[in-house]
Amino acid sequence: MNMRVVFKSLLFLLGFFSVQTKGGTEVNIATWGKANQSTQAYNWYPSNALDGKNSTCTHTDVQSDPWWKLDLMKTYSVNRVTITNRHDCCSYRINGSEIRVGNNSSDLFRNPVCAVVSSIPAGATYSYSCGGMKGRYVTVNIPGTSKILTLCEVEVYVIFPGNSEPQSKCLLAQIRAKQSLFPRPKCRKE
Ligand SMILES: *[C@@H]1O[C@H](CO)[C@@H](O)[C@H](O)[C@H]1NC(C)=O
Ligand SMILES: *[C@@H]1O[C@H](CO)[C@@H](O)[C@H](O)[C@H]1NC(C)=O
Ligand SMILES: *[C@@H]1O[C@H](CO)[C@@H](O)[C@H](O)[C@H]1NC(C)=O
Ligand SMILES: *[C@@H]1O[C@H](CO)[C@@H](O)[C@H](O)[C@H]1NC(C)=O
Ligand SMILES: *[C@@H]1O[C@H](CO)[C@@H](O)[C@H](O)[C@H]1NC(C)=O
Repeated sequence: MNMRVVFKSLLFLLGFFSVQTKGGTEVNIATWGKANQSTQAYNWYPSNALDGKNSTCTHTDVQSDPWWKLDLMKTYSVNRVTITNRHDCCSYRINGSEIRVGNNSSDLFRNPVCAVVSSIPAGATYSYSCGGMKGRYVTVNIPGTSKILTLCEVEVYVIFPGNSEPQSKCLLAQIRAKQSLFPRPKCRKE
């Protein structure tokens, strides 16, 4: 590989990491996990809430306390969760659903509630702040009998520490220095 290609790839990568918020980078990690749901109607799979399309959704049977569960495979501090409601019908079904973050995979109802959804208009995406609640599982459940849970998209946002913007600029300067007579700068560790 020649230096130009390496340099271009690095520029690309650094650009990739530079989507920053103050005090960290907010990333949707929902797709890093595995989804499941209490029951399944039709071919409305639990993973349909993670495919980036608001046209495909999850669907449980009519049941008591339906749930959808995302296993993030390890514990994260969850900043916020977004839910996209279905647009074609039945948007009221989401009313009263609970978003939970915790570590119990078998007894989801033991996990603390982050937010209760009062309602979401058809096809809309609402965001719910979880203020850094820690857990491996993010779940949505509807308490009560004869309920159906449908989710078209779920996003789970985590803030990763560090503002890599100055860091990446410094690394670029280091790379440039390697190719020339400029002095090699010291980059601070973050
Ligand atoms: C998904 O949840 C159902 C209902 O609890 C359970 O029977 C099934 O084994 C789970 N599937 C996976 C892959 O964990
Ligand atoms: C979701 O649906 C709306 C139309 O209802 C569309 O404008 C929007 O782009 C869709 N978003 C995604 C991520 O597909
Ligand atoms: C769901 O919430 C919407 C908006 O507040 C309300 O208009 C509707 O009556 C509610 N439906 C049910 C079944 O709770
Ligand atoms: C989940 O486990 C992590 C790591 O053990 C812990 O820090 C966190 O407080 C737990 N979450 C809850 C809701 O108990
Ligand atoms: C999960 O809940 C079950 C039943 O309530 C309990 O026996 C178990 O200890 C809990 N596990 C964790 C990891 O909290």
